[in-house]
Amino acid sequence: MRDSFGRTIDYLRLSVTERCDLRCRYCMEEGGVPKRSHEEMLRIEELAEISEAAVSLGVRKIRLTGGEPLVRRGLLTLCERLSALPGLEELCLTTNGSRLRDFAAPLRAAGVSRLNISLDTLQEEKFAFLTRRGRLADTLAGIAAAEEAGFDRLKINCVLLGGINDDEIGDFLRLTYDHPWEVRFIELMPMGPCAHWGKERFLPVRTVLERFPDLQPLPEDEGVARRHQLPGAVGSIGLISPMSCDFCPRCRRLRVTADGHLLPCLHAKTERNLRGLHGEELRAALLAGAMAKPLGHHLCAGGSETMRDMNEIGG
Ligand code: 5AD
Ligand code: SF4
Repeated sequence: MRDSFGRTIDYLRLSVTERCDLRCRYCMEEGGVPKRSHEEMLRIEELAEISEAAVSLGVRKIRLTGGEPLVRRGLLTLCERLSALPGLEELCLTTNGSRLRDFAAPLRAAGVSRLNISLDTLQEEKFAFLTRRGRLADTLAGIAAAEEAGFDRLKINCVLLGGINDDEIGDFLRLTYDHPWEVRFIELMPMGPCAHWGKERFLPVRTVLERFPDLQPLPEDEGVARRHQLPGAVGSIGLISPMSCDFCPRCRRLRVTADGHLLPCLHAKTERNLRGLHGEELRAALLAGAMAKPLGHHLCAGGSETMRDMNEIGG
């Protein structure tokens, strides 16, 4: 699949639920997401059908996101079906890790190839405050279980929150001395509950380089992170700057929301409902979505155009 700018589109991000067991302050309100009926959400069967169509059009990598994918019933069945698709090279999943202690081995057995784990603080009390109901120990146990289950090259995602966790940048960096992880700092995007937070909360990821000038750049790969490394570290550091549009020209993604809408871009307003589409109609809708991809977004200039929150779109 190609878009109108000649970019290859081979990466599908599929949200399997809007719900989450945590309530990170920048992402969700205390009460969670307004309850929508299960009928409004794609069934496992539909998620698999959309994935199959996408793979038949050249998608090589699928990432399951949420909300929190591990709260979705039937997730392991979905993983088994997707990992068996001929042509799919990578099946990835982004999780907050809270249930990973129990899920790591079954996910591995169901054919998931890589995990990204969200972790914004290494301090117990701050974790409880930030997630409103999570426990740091659960996520750390989840990470350990993932390694035990054979997931290597784990990515740890840390959203930079000025005045909240920027005092821990050094602690996160130090994790890469002992662990072969890619620890990634992500700029906070003003969406949902954090849209009206003060500007001191929004730190550019270059802050990491400014404070730790020892970081050495690594060669770029096809991903969105600018990679660096501390001298002597086994792991690496990724800097992800969604605010600056700098990876838009290399974007390879399509997104599908948990209620079945195709988004050409994280911040796009135009959506296409995929529900009820099958076979050639479904494939045509996916191709049209790829063609509708904008060259970039305008987060830095005017803000996100999407009417959706992050937990709906899936990070
Ligand atoms: N800005 C940046 N990242 C966000 N995430 C959720 N909301 C935001 C936001 N406003 C991240 C989560 C998780 C992933 C699913 O998306 O921390 O890593
Ligand atoms: Fe859940 Fe992730 Fe949102 Fe936190 S950021 S509430 S873990 S979806």
